[in-house]
Amino acid sequence: RLDAVNQQPDLKLVVISNRIAPFDPNKPKSGGLAAGLEPVVQRSGAVWIGSSETPGEGAERPLPLVPTGAGHVARLDLPAADHDGYYRGYSNSTLWPALHSLPDRMSGSEEDYGSYRRINDFIARATFDVRDSDAFWVHDYHLLPLGAELNDLGIERPIGFFLHTPWPTPDMIECVPNHRELMKSMLKYDLLGFQTNRDLNNFLACLRTHFRLESKDGVVTTERGQTRLQKFPIGIDPEQFAAYLAADLSPAEQEKVSSLLQKFQDAKFAIGVDRLDYTKGIDKRVEGFKELLKKEPQSIQLLQIAPSSRADVDEYQKYKEDVENAINHVNNDHGTDEWRPIHYTNDSFSQAALARLYREAHVGVVTPLRDGMNLVAKEYVAAQDPKDPGVLVLSKFAGAAEDFNEDEALLVDPNKPEEIADAISRAANMPLEERVKRWRSMMDKIESYTIHDWSADYVRELEKSRVTVPAEQCL
Ligand code: G6P
Repeated sequence: RLDAVNQQPDLKLVVISNRIAPFDPNKPKSGGLAAGLEPVVQRSGAVWIGSSETPGEGAERPLPLVPTGAGHVARLDLPAADHDGYYRGYSNSTLWPALHSLPDRMSGSEEDYGSYRRINDFIARATFDVRDSDAFWVHDYHLLPLGAELNDLGIERPIGFFLHTPWPTPDMIECVPNHRELMKSMLKYDLLGFQTNRDLNNFLACLRTHFRLESKDGVVTTERGQTRLQKFPIGIDPEQFAAYLAADLSPAEQEKVSSLLQKFQDAKFAIGVDRLDYTKGIDKRVEGFKELLKKEPQSIQLLQIAPSSRADVDEYQKYKEDVENAINHVNNDHGTDEWRPIHYTNDSFSQAALARLYREAHVGVVTPLRDGMNLVAKEYVAAQDPKDPGVLVLSKFAGAAEDFNEDEALLVDPNKPEEIADAISRAANMPLEERVKRWRSMMDKIESYTIHDWSADYVRELEKSRVTVPAEQCL
């Protein structure tokens, strides 16, 4: 029944995440989760529930479902009293840096965890009876304990979770307040999905270290039942991406894209597109660019698009300043009145506008310090001209580097500006034949495992996964 999401428009699934897509092709999407799930929900007929981003006093009951494609969407006003502690606090000041193995960026107050749990409890109560027979598919670190809350409400349908970010080592997770309680609550899900083997293995190592719990054939047994753990590397919709390239832009966006492209005329340029987030390694990338320009003056320019993100979190404000200072230095030291090395904007662009910009860029630079998958890497590849493709420079620590090997992308350590500089130079000067070979191989992978294969695989596993046999091994 659940064979392939794209062939099953009436598939019964409730998808829950904090962020939901704007469902408007002209509006930018914030991050990979929104970009990834939008086509899945529109094709599968799922209900997608997320935050309205307007904290309020509570949800209307029953939840108003608004149609979108074959699916529906419902936006919850999360309780104002706990919203800050949940989103800015525990989710984005504590969990986010820890999951990306950046403990120096961690902060937060003791009360944040209480807010985080209360919002998860609120979401469970607002959603448990939305569609009686549907399985639940919960997404990302904002909602780690939601499955446990749904379980406590007596839900007997399969409940799955997918983590879009990395999962760190046992030592790192120990830095997270309440990590044991959180991990225990995650074992109330029937299926835990991860982006890569590295994340899956780190999670298994955490279970071993912190609970002396072993998995058998990818399954962990507790007194509740069984939790299957599996890797599902998220993809994109390459057909939709091709359609973006052909689509008309709104006059305003067309103007924005043309004026950017005009800055490069026929000259070579590299492109970076990242939320303005310290995990994305934009500062190191800029240093890499500086190293390159020292060795090869005026050889290539960089277009860095960095829409502002989570601006009320202190670390993000500091990072914005650091990035801007680094860019100003490079532009002052290596630019002239006629030639600016780095063009930087905090503007957001629609997928269609980004597709145009990717297509024109000779190099795609995706160098996060750590990343769950990084769909920009896949989108950059999907937007290339098959006859004259650009080259992808990719961080070894992005999940995408488990999909693309060194014969495809140029893999770099994102902490080493010298390596980034060499890779950009090599990419910019790569002969056509090698570029085509590398690109073809990456594109084949993108086409053979799309976002729809990803969700169909997940849902197939989820349906099989709820096992209620009495447990032998208890937590
Ligand atoms: C990452 C996270 C997503 C999040 C996105 C944008 O991709 O994995 O869960 O939605 O960043 O962040 P924001 O805080 O704007 O939702």
